[in-house]
Amino acid sequence: MKQSSQSALPAPLIFSGGEPVRSPREWREKRRGEIRELFRTHIYGHSPAAGTYLQTFKVLSETPRALGGTATRRQIAMTFEGPGGARTIGLLMFVPERVTRPAPVFLLLDNRMESGLYRDRDAGSGFWPAEEIVKRGYAAAALSLPDVSPDRDGALQEGTQGIFPASLRTDDSWGAIATWAWAGSRALDYLETDPDVDAARAAVVGHSRGGKTALWCGAEDERFALVVSNNSGSTGAALARTTRGEKIADINQSFPYWFCENYKRYSGRENDLPVDQHELLALMAPRLVYVSSATDDAWADPDSEFAACVAAEPVFALLGRSGVGASEIPPPETPLHSGSIGYHLRTGRHDLTPYDWKCFMDFADRHYPLAAMSTLAG
Ligand code: GCU
Repeated sequence: MKQSSQSALPAPLIFSGGEPVRSPREWREKRRGEIRELFRTHIYGHSPAAGTYLQTFKVLSETPRALGGTATRRQIAMTFEGPGGARTIGLLMFVPERVTRPAPVFLLLDNRMESGLYRDRDAGSGFWPAEEIVKRGYAAAALSLPDVSPDRDGALQEGTQGIFPASLRTDDSWGAIATWAWAGSRALDYLETDPDVDAARAAVVGHSRGGKTALWCGAEDERFALVVSNNSGSTGAALARTTRGEKIADINQSFPYWFCENYKRYSGRENDLPVDQHELLALMAPRLVYVSSATDDAWADPDSEFAACVAAEPVFALLGRSGVGASEIPPPETPLHSGSIGYHLRTGRHDLTPYDWKCFMDFADRHYPLAAMSTLAG
């Protein structure tokens, strides 16, 4: 494995054969695929290719004047069928009512089932502040991850993976995180068909295990314009080699079904991994990526999350984008929003809060081309 000169991290701009990546084209056409394949094989697993299953979308309900009259609530059933059977997943969304153009969308990969509070009524949630999102001219969509695949060991076949026979599984097959991420892409398939949504301005957001999922979703699916990872920690934004929080052995021990079987080989052997998490962030380039940490979240290790942002910068630079724009972690409540890698550290504990959402939307407002933004009428 090639190491960069300044640190013990694998170098994203050196091919596995040892040659440097010399142009944006070499990155796009060869190196990006090489790194993504390493993440698939050793960490998250391979997800099914399009064409190996059928999918259908059905709008189940449409409720105007929701969220105090500001939004239309829409519930969609996404059904998938494969050789092992069929599974249906719900997608919940609010689109701003008074917009003159399709609205850019924030899709939350909801690991806490907080979005369910809004299924039939207007309920406030700091974790998914749909009212605030809509107020700022964005559509708010959410997928409840446990509906996609239960968050417990031994249950993969009960979830969406059950559309394929278990006998097809290999050591580099998708785990629960990749299954959740795959469902995020299927939600985007639906959003592309929704005339109220500007799917070219779609952000995928997740917290903690959902943040790991959002990153993998954005790495696999280049249609997402912005990828947001909140407090994602181990096997999310935090560098495996430097973290002082959760290690690979910890995560494999507590959550043996999240990643592919091959990942277990790296428990206690971080330095043998052919990639590290800065390269996952680099897979978003030249799109927008956002990492957020919390001061009391030592398990996710803010320093290692920030260090991954810095180490991803050379790839953004090669593609003509600036990165996080600082080499030291900023003080709390001092968001770094100038480059294509956004970052903030929030005071407080492991959580997704209205402050975090405000920062994500400020970042999107700043970086999405103005002409593409929906405008609130009246
Ligand atoms: C556990 C786990 C983390 C994960 C977190 C969460 O703490 O060890 O990796 O991010 O749960 O999802 O809240």
